[in-house]
Amino acid sequence: MITEKKDRQTFPECLVIGDLNIDIIMCGLKVLPDLGTEILAQNYNLVVGGSGGIFSSILSSLGIRTGIISKIGNDYFGHHLIECLKKSGTYTDDIIISKDSVTGLTINLSYEQDKSQITSIETVKKLSFSEISLKKIEQIKHIHFSSYYIMQNLKKDYAQFIKKIKSLSKNITFSFDTNYDPEEKWDSEIFDILPLVDILFLNENEALNISKQTDRKRAAYKLAETVPKVIIKLGKEGQLAVIDGKEYRFRCNNTLNDNFIDGTGAGDNFDAGFIFCFLKDFPIEKTMEFANYCAEKSIEYIGGVGEESKFNDIREKYDIVKQKERL
Ligand SMILES: Nc1ncnc2c1ncn2[C@@H]1O[C@H](COP(=O)(O)OP(=O)(O)O)[C@@H](O)[C@H]1O
Ligand SMILES: [Mg+2]
Repeated sequence: MITEKKDRQTFPECLVIGDLNIDIIMCGLKVLPDLGTEILAQNYNLVVGGSGGIFSSILSSLGIRTGIISKIGNDYFGHHLIECLKKSGTYTDDIIISKDSVTGLTINLSYEQDKSQITSIETVKKLSFSEISLKKIEQIKHIHFSSYYIMQNLKKDYAQFIKKIKSLSKNITFSFDTNYDPEEKWDSEIFDILPLVDILFLNENEALNISKQTDRKRAAYKLAETVPKVIIKLGKEGQLAVIDGKEYRFRCNNTLNDNFIDGTGAGDNFDAGFIFCFLKDFPIEKTMEFANYCAEKSIEYIGGVGEESKFNDIREKYDIVKQKERL
């Protein structure tokens, strides 16, 4: 049993509720495989994946105590995910391990500037709010929800869950990254949740589909009618944001993309960098610059979580990032 003091030190400051799976990234491919044929990859990597998994790993590595609640299987990949997340400093004790289904997996076929993906994430879709304990919720400062459209069993209950948490803990804040809707329905029920959210992260495609607008600026303003901080990620073009009523346009530094290796999880690295600064109450310009740097660094590595050298580079450039605390 952990003592009261240790408990206080180790309990996360930020909680992530969302998707977590293994990413296998097949690298150095030249052509798509035709049915009935086999192609050779130069190499492959097996890493922590899922928007929620990548976000929590990055935020922990940046030094914020972060925990994740997700659902995985009691299998080799599930145990591997927990081991990797623990190494990043992420609090994993509340991950739900299903006895009768397998850990989610995405196989990424990675080509020079694009990729194809094959995903099997039946277990994570089954996570429900009734499985999430609200014990000690008052110790958490921020909750990040990832991949709204994938989390099918959470979808109808987000609004009620957020309201319940707000009634227990007044100052807690919420961020949301919907990610893509695999069914491409882009239902309007999300507008019941957005008024309860403080920060919304989307990429351009997602923003246009959710807001039902035809250009990015209209989309940002439309969404900003309900959410105080809206950030639309524009790939190598940077970001467009409407923050507390003010419009911002931020650009990437390396537009030539000479260091591009793999774009997996760039958006989640951005989100984690943003929330790192948000929790430290940094001004928006510094927040966006830092988040963009984290995202731009991530494309230099295979997979979303990267390697220790990525964080060494970030620490070297920004002394706000200290060595991480291990939970
Ligand atoms: N090719 C790229 N070159 C430089 N930065 C990139 C590139 N792709 C993504 N980024 C960075 O990652 C952020 C998020 O990427 P984006 O693809 O827009 O979001 P998502 O990964 O959520 O779809 C961008 O705003 C940018 O900072
Ligand atoms: Mg994304």
